[in-house]
Amino acid sequence: MKIIMADNAGFCFGVKRAMDIVNNEINNIDGKLYSYGPLIHNPQVVDSLEQKGLKAIKDLSKINEGKIIIRSHGIPKYEEDKMIDLKLSIVDCTCPYVKAVHKRVENYMNKGYNIVIIGNSKHPEVIGINGWCNNKALIVENIKSVEQLPFMDKVCVVAQTTITKEKFDTISKEIKAKASIVEIFNTICKATKERQESAATVAKISDAMVVIGGYKSSNTLKLVEISKKYCKNVFHIETIKDLPLQEVLKFNTIGITAGASTPDWIIKEAIETMDNLNNNEMMEAIESSFTQIRRGDVIKGKVIFTTN
Ligand code: F3S
Repeated sequence: MKIIMADNAGFCFGVKRAMDIVNNEINNIDGKLYSYGPLIHNPQVVDSLEQKGLKAIKDLSKINEGKIIIRSHGIPKYEEDKMIDLKLSIVDCTCPYVKAVHKRVENYMNKGYNIVIIGNSKHPEVIGINGWCNNKALIVENIKSVEQLPFMDKVCVVAQTTITKEKFDTISKEIKAKASIVEIFNTICKATKERQESAATVAKISDAMVVIGGYKSSNTLKLVEISKKYCKNVFHIETIKDLPLQEVLKFNTIGITAGASTPDWIIKEAIETMDNLNNNEMMEAIESSFTQIRRGDVIKGKVIFTTN
């Protein structure tokens, strides 16, 4: 059996940054510490942070003191204003790439543009972006909803950071016919693009793909979708416990990728378990810049673990 790890998988820059800030806050905890919603879309990480003292809350009216973490997805302006009114101490972990989209839509709204967001209207990131243009954005989820857009004078188009480039290109092309002046900004983040391309590369040469990440994680679900395009056998798991091991281990080549909110320890645990089950002693790294690797190490790169 061969296990191929995708070049780009696991924590992205924004999630890693948020986790570093939060861990620092936890280490210096002094009073109540809350996150507004789960910090990331990974239940295992959220549980472990809760045990260390970070409480996720849904309703701001339930608290009136302490520190509140804004998660990497960001929040609408009116919610941030509410936190200020409540005199909460804000720790803003909004990913800088998402923050840049907030600024852009606010700026273009002030210049008289209609704002169009290509993305999932129910996703917290999209709700957050919309909240920086007075909740007046037109949200386009698919090519069909472009038809329902009115003809506009000026339009500024942005994207949820985790959508596929293919979707963005197709929809934004259609939107061009819907306004006299159209400013299109591809705000898909590089980390997303890299993870999606790596997943496709690995899926093309694998008999089965294991995609590790939260069941509600939008970017993980995209990796599942892309993997299914190129590989018939795709397993989406949150942890190794969800994987039907005997079913998976009958395949010769198993590709692995993980969403941007999946920590290394979950990826490592999955690889180690699969590797141990094969009960082999040696691994060989092929096409790798690494010359020495330890059994079970999580290595991001075109590393192929051979177990026979
Ligand atoms: Fe930020 Fe991109 Fe991650 S927008 S949170 S670095 S997927």
